[in-house]
Amino acid sequence: MNMLFVGDVVGEAGRRVLWERLPIVRARFKIDVVVVNIENAAGGFGVTEKILRESLERGVDVLSSGNHIFDKREALDLVARERRLLRPHNYPAGTPGSGWYVGESAQGEPFAVLNVMGSAFMHPVLDCPFACAQAALAQKPAQVKAVLVDCHAETTSEKMAMGWFLDGRVSAVVGTHTHVPTADERVLPGGTAYISDVGMTGCYDSVIGMNKEKVLRRMVQKLPERLEAAEGRATLCAVVIDIDTKTGASRGIQRVSLRED
Ligand SMILES: [Fe+2]
Ligand SMILES: [Fe+2]
Repeated sequence: MNMLFVGDVVGEAGRRVLWERLPIVRARFKIDVVVVNIENAAGGFGVTEKILRESLERGVDVLSSGNHIFDKREALDLVARERRLLRPHNYPAGTPGSGWYVGESAQGEPFAVLNVMGSAFMHPVLDCPFACAQAALAQKPAQVKAVLVDCHAETTSEKMAMGWFLDGRVSAVVGTHTHVPTADERVLPGGTAYISDVGMTGCYDSVIGMNKEKVLRRMVQKLPERLEAAEGRATLCAVVIDIDTKTGASRGIQRVSLRED
C-alpha cells in the first residue's frame, strides 16, 4: 500500500497547490490512501465545513490536525459527526471527536490513522501522547496492519522518541506542526517509517505559512498584529510511504516537494 501524507495545509495557497498537484502525485506514486493534515487550511486557523467537504470530494481519505483544530467553532460539530476528521487523540475524555480512525482503502485494504499532540511547549492539559498511543493501539483490530501516526509536536526530540517508542508497532510516525521539512526520513529497524517534520503545504515566502510582514511587526516592533495566511507561490510538502500490508512494516519513505511555477 502506498500512503501519501501531506503536511499542514496553510490557507488558500496551500489548498490551491494541494488540489492542483494531488492528481499528479496520486498517479506518479500509485497512491492508495491519502492523509492530509488540515489544521491550518482555513486562513491558517482551523478547518471549515466547506473545506472538509471539498477534501472528501477530492478523495482525501483521512484529515488529521493538531492544536489549531478548534480555531473555528464549527469544528466542534464537524469532528463529532465526521469520523474521517481527526483531532488529537490525547484531548481529555469527553472532548468531541476522536484521533483514531480505522477504515479501508478504495481497494478494500484496512488501515488506521492515529493523531496525537506532543506535550513539550504545547497545550498543557492534554494527556501523555505516549500513553495515549499505547492505549489506542491496544484496541487495533488484528486484521489492520497498516497504521500511520501523525505526531503533532513542537520538538524534534519528542517526535523522535515517539518514532522509537512505536518502532515495530506501526507502519509510520510522521511529524507535523513546525511547518519546516526535515531531511531525516528513514525506516527504523523495526519497520516503522519516520520523519521529524513533513513540512507545510503553503506559501514558503512567509514565516511558517503566515504573512511575513505581519509576523515581523509582531516580532520586531512588538505590536499586536492579527496573523493571516501568506499568499503567493506555494509548495506542497508530503511523504510517500510504501507499506507491506501483510506485516504492517514499511519498505520505504520518500519526501515529495512540489513548487508552483
Ligand atoms: Fe500547523
Ligand atoms: Fe500545529
